Amino acid sequence: YRVDWDASAAEKDGHDSFMLKEIAEQPKAVADTLLGRLDPALGTLTLGPELGLDPAVLRDAEKVVVIACGTAHHAGLVARLAVERWAKLPCEVELASEFRYRDPIVGPRTLVVAVSQSGETADTLMAVRHAREQGATVLAVCNTNGSTIPRESDAVLYTHAGPEVAVASTKAFLTQLVACLLLALHLGEVRGGPGDELRAAARALGRAPEDVASVLATMEPVRELARGLAHQETVLFLGRHAGYPVALEGALKLKELAYFHAEGFAAGELKHGPIALVEPGLPVIVVVPSPVASGVLHGKIVSNIQEIRARGAHTIVLAEEGDEAVVPYADHLIRVPAVPPLLQPLVAAVPLQVFACELATARGNDVDQPRNLAKSVTVE
Ligand code: G6P
Repeated sequence: YRVDWDASAAEKDGHDSFMLKEIAEQPKAVADTLLGRLDPALGTLTLGPELGLDPAVLRDAEKVVVIACGTAHHAGLVARLAVERWAKLPCEVELASEFRYRDPIVGPRTLVVAVSQSGETADTLMAVRHAREQGATVLAVCNTNGSTIPRESDAVLYTHAGPEVAVASTKAFLTQLVACLLLALHLGEVRGGPGDELRAAARALGRAPEDVASVLATMEPVRELARGLAHQETVLFLGRHAGYPVALEGALKLKELAYFHAEGFAAGELKHGPIALVEPGLPVIVVVPSPVASGVLHGKIVSNIQEIRARGAHTIVLAEEGDEAVVPYADHLIRVPAVPPLLQPLVAAVPLQVFACELATARGNDVDQPRNLAKSVTVE
């Protein structure tokens, strides 16, 4: 009697790829990143002592600058919305490779947040060094214990996603979002932000593991959709507010994994150019904000969907449960749970990861090791 033992299959925990395994691990990764940092019942943060930063640094900061590359940059774009809304602080988000070669205005009252899964990305590291030379306080949001970026920063907030093997980031991204939201909530608390909203958001963040799990449980139609589109050449993504970084991330996943021409656009920019790309049959994935919580934005996006559909686009609409206004214009509907607007990326990114992974697999690509890419880019 002989048991065949495949070490790599064992590491993949029964999944066909590390990417699928890491996508499936997201509820736990998100829960681990929240653990000990947030009291979900009370809606309060317990983050301060861990950060170890002088509270005066956070209280007296004049602005926040987020620096990152790739997927981490998309988490930073969500961080900006949260920092502005909850902490009422100006916040810029920069690609680390651009930041370093401008003359960025940073100084002792700037809080720089460097987001990096690996903690070794050369562009981000150089930007960290540059910011510290200008006297800024640097906080790293990082997944890899003891890596260079946290070591060279003033403080670190670890994302506890566990090791991420697949080159394209999935669970690290979700935990970067969680860490950035925790940080923005903490900044909001320290700086006397809107108490009720902060507590409601914190409680909702505490429910994120279950929300992500419920999305994962409904992914079969998304996989089927992806297989049906595997012969396409282009997919466009539209989003707005917190949905815009999700659109960028959805497009990046498709480029990385499927070698597709994929672009994410801010939906409000549609009329300034991208609509010229729309032709009959073009798949367009639209990330729709909450009809209740997003105010006028929802109606504007619904108009965008009508505009592209009138020009023949194949509309794939990602909208929260209960949003009936989108139904008449959706050729395909992907539902996500209703969550506060700034938390939507946590649930909306997941179907787009699954979509890209399945589409790439249908094209015969290696989703763990896409061509030309490296997990951590340690050269500038
Ligand atoms: C590489 C990876 C991307 C990642 C980026 C930033 O390009 O392929 O998936 O988003 O680096 O990596 P970091 O480790 O700094 O988050």
